Amino acid sequence: MLIGVLKEGAAETRVAATPATVTQLLKLGYDVVVESGAGDKSDFSDAAYVGAGATIGDAVAADIVFGVNAPTSAQLDRLRPGTSMVSILSPALHPELVEDLANRGLTALAMDAVPRISRAQSLDVLSSMANIAGYRAVVEAAHAFGRFFTGQVTAAGKVPPAKVLVVGAGVAGLAAIGTAGSLGAIVAATDPRPEVADQIRSLGGEYLAVEATEVEVSATGYAKAMSDDYNTRAAARYATTVPETDIVITTALIPGRPAPRLITAEMVAAMKPGSVIVDMAAANGGNVEGTVPGKVIVTGNGVTIVGYTDLAGRLPAQASQLYGTNLVNLMKLMTPGQDGELVLDFDDVVQRSITVVRDGQSTWPPPPVQVSAAPTTAAPKTESTPVYAHSQRPASTRKKPAVVGGAALCLFLLIAASPAALQIHLIVFALAIVIGFYVIGNVHHALHTPLMSVTNAISGIIVVGALLQIGHDNSTITALSFVAILLATINVFGGFAVTRRMLAMFSRS
Ligand code: NAI
Repeated sequence: MLIGVLKEGAAETRVAATPATVTQLLKLGYDVVVESGAGDKSDFSDAAYVGAGATIGDAVAADIVFGVNAPTSAQLDRLRPGTSMVSILSPALHPELVEDLANRGLTALAMDAVPRISRAQSLDVLSSMANIAGYRAVVEAAHAFGRFFTGQVTAAGKVPPAKVLVVGAGVAGLAAIGTAGSLGAIVAATDPRPEVADQIRSLGGEYLAVEATEVEVSATGYAKAMSDDYNTRAAARYATTVPETDIVITTALIPGRPAPRLITAEMVAAMKPGSVIVDMAAANGGNVEGTVPGKVIVTGNGVTIVGYTDLAGRLPAQASQLYGTNLVNLMKLMTPGQDGELVLDFDDVVQRSITVVRDGQSTWPPPPVQVSAAPTTAAPKTESTPVYAHSQRPASTRKKPAVVGGAALCLFLLIAASPAALQIHLIVFALAIVIGFYVIGNVHHALHTPLMSVTNAISGIIVVGALLQIGHDNSTITALSFVAILLATINVFGGFAVTRRMLAMFSRS
């Protein structure tokens, strides 16, 4: 089959395939035709596409048509019935477009309808674009702020670090937290989903919790509308935090609804002159009162509000590359024979979810998707349901005392049966296991690399000790020394191998 890559409208800088993704599509057995000039704004020339194996020509005439946005009406008029159209379609916001695509006898796949499940992450266009947009939001903020993000102590005086508040810690918010933190700012972030607190902290941000009776638990990977109680408490929190903040980046989103209005005009009026707000939700109505979609405005008190709705498109080459890779991953899923033949499988939840129109029949909205990775909602604690009633304990919890007791008894018998000279060593050994289990078990993932260095040092001590003992007359001691040297050496060399691999990830090839 032939895949056509459209040239987007004047306002779009991205393109749905890059020379690198064209190569991958060819490997799946497809031919690719790219409209002339489609990649110009992303710095991909026609010659680069031809070099990758594509032809330059009429993309609309292809069997499968790739776009970033929905086709223009002129392009739609030229699509043949039976063509498969793949692009961002916002079907929930544009039901009239869905009807139009159905009337034309097309099959339409909406890349923005990919469900948020682990298996579909490699196709998740909203996440890949939000990640870029979150980074770019900080770059825009830094440009408008016109001061350092990082604090400095110089001979000419002290410069305080910028204070950044990120509202909503989804994909875009987390990218913004990481970027602002890496520039040296002091970052705080808030989100009604308590499970993001650890992610915020792991990026160096401080989690601002809003204490409310309602605790948000995401069942779909997205948030739900918050209660009045939560909103009132959050507003009080913003009223005190926002005026002390230099840069506010808002990303709060509830899918299928207008963006929640979180930052009022009074809060903006209380900010210092020179402060900056980037309202990433501008296209959906904005989280900030006074945002103008697509524009930068400066308020009467000198606060800049950035309302760009094309932040991902402001890094067009990389945005196109990630978008194009999402499309390649979709094609991999839908080309089981790797023979250039598209197969739409409605039993596959991902393919079902993104299919808006099939052979001229509207299939929107899809059935809801159960997100397996979502945390289950804890049953509320009540007087009548004791949390740790014996009968409700999980089996693993019930077995634990028995295992610990059994191990302690075995150890006691072993020590009693051992020669006196060995007893003290066995006691130290047992204590080392217990302490090591609790210390290492509680080390945060982010600290595993330094932990590995410590274990390497301990392994070195073990090797030296075992070398001293290996020449012993007693063959049991010699055998034990040999095993100790072997295991400790594996640990040391394994540690070096892992470190080498990690360093290679950061080195330029
Ligand atoms: P996401 O769904 O991953 O994250 C949204 C976050 O907002 C969630 O963590 C959610 O819990 C939080 N949230 C919901 N209600 C809230 C409330 N009342 N207070 C605080 N937080 C709340 O969405 P993603 O992909 O990170 O996108 C974020 C926003 O950025 C969206 O509005 C999206 O449309 C926009 N966006 C804008 C772009 C631009 O160029 N301006 C480009 C890409 C995305």
